[in-house]
Amino acid sequence: MWSRYLHTRERDGVVAVFHELHPDPVYCSQEQWQMVKAGITDDVVTFIKDLRQRKLLIDSSEDDDREFLETTSALECKLNQPTILYLMTAQGCNFNCGYCQVPEIARKYGESMLSSADAFAGIDLWLEHLRDVYDPNHEYFVIFYGGEPLLNKQVIWQSLKCLELKRITGELPARVNFMIATNGALVDEETVTQCKKHGVMVAVGLDGPKVANDALKVDTDGQGTFERIIASIRLLVAGGVRTFVSASITPSNISEMSKYADFFKELGVEKFGFNFLKGRLLLKLVGESGLMDYYRQAAQGVIELARTESGFGFEYQMEKKRNAFDRREFFPVDCTCYGNQLVIQPDGQISNCPFYKARLGQVGSVGKNFRIWDQPIVQEWRKRLSLSHPGEAKAMGGGGCAWGSNELKGDPLAVDDSSQIFSEEVLNELIWSRYDRNQSRKA
Ligand SMILES: C[S@@+](CC[C@H](N)C(=O)[O-])C[C@H]1O[C@@H](n2cnc3c(N)ncnc32)[C@H](O)[C@@H]1O
Repeated sequence: MWSRYLHTRERDGVVAVFHELHPDPVYCSQEQWQMVKAGITDDVVTFIKDLRQRKLLIDSSEDDDREFLETTSALECKLNQPTILYLMTAQGCNFNCGYCQVPEIARKYGESMLSSADAFAGIDLWLEHLRDVYDPNHEYFVIFYGGEPLLNKQVIWQSLKCLELKRITGELPARVNFMIATNGALVDEETVTQCKKHGVMVAVGLDGPKVANDALKVDTDGQGTFERIIASIRLLVAGGVRTFVSASITPSNISEMSKYADFFKELGVEKFGFNFLKGRLLLKLVGESGLMDYYRQAAQGVIELARTESGFGFEYQMEKKRNAFDRREFFPVDCTCYGNQLVIQPDGQISNCPFYKARLGQVGSVGKNFRIWDQPIVQEWRKRLSLSHPGEAKAMGGGGCAWGSNELKGDPLAVDDSSQIFSEEVLNELIWSRYDRNQSRKA
């Protein structure tokens, strides 16, 4: 019998047949597919074998149930794995980007700075999590975030020292990465020296060439920021610091973003990634009627760029999904807020999301048995994940952003249209680009 997870896509007389939970398409002609569906299978023995091997042809519905349970439990394991510790060292920011709600959050809750005591308590609590579930096959990160994290440099350097000491004593696994996500303005020689000393990577926000960047990425005086960001990136790269660029997709760069690869590469950065905007300020920028166009155009831009970049794996938004597809993995989450991150907010409160004040307790007093994956908000937000919902692009879709849905639709469980559209378009792209690659290899 056919699996209930079987789906097809058709293009120019070719049919791609794939499994919803782990798409690894098999291709045939439309005529062959009609024959197979009619039960005429004599001439397509290999094709039938492929369908069986991929659990598209099964013996009973129990095979499907088993497949679903295996995917669910593998997903659960991945979700109960806190790969990221966010230390939000400052709530305030020296930029006032036209799409970012951080300045508004800072006005509402105060421009607090993380204390070194809370940073150390955050590190200890995260290590308690790792003691339970550390797995050397995963990559782990401590990310300094904000607001603008470099407004509180001393706590970053102190935290790095504390982390290094814990590495020496063996409390911190050897393969934990350190990263600062910054707007770049406060990067100086001391920053480069500290980053080199502790092997810190730096992700700098830059929205493209000057006109595109300065349209919305301005400082608190409303001045453009392009030159300062570029100078910082060059300083970091020249100092040998592993540097990345994170570009937000805005109305000012959306129509040309697919051409930015050379611009970013010329800066000497290791990788770049695109960031889909979320929240109320996106709504303000594009209007209710412009939202769907924004999501489609942004998805197309990232896919178009990945097409021209194929082989380099340079843009990481798309790369993550392509890797999952190539490894036949169920790609579980778009965001690490579903249990994969412990966030220490600047006031010492714990959250599962840097943008959302979940107020799960003060880091210094919750006790060492606190686990982020047990928190009711994490369990609740997991109900968003694609596995629990209908949809053919399940294996590529990861639930999107709960904070964004809450902001836009007043419900953290509402569908994230942006992530849904991106996942569907990426799945189609991956299915047909593999077919085209196979064909050109044969030619
Ligand atoms: C909030 S900032 C904090 C760290 C640092 N100040 C920086 O500029 O990278 C981190 C990233 O969030 C992105 N961001 C800001 N507003 C956003 C929004 N509405 N939706 C999605 N990402 C957003 C920024 O572009 C930036 O790259």
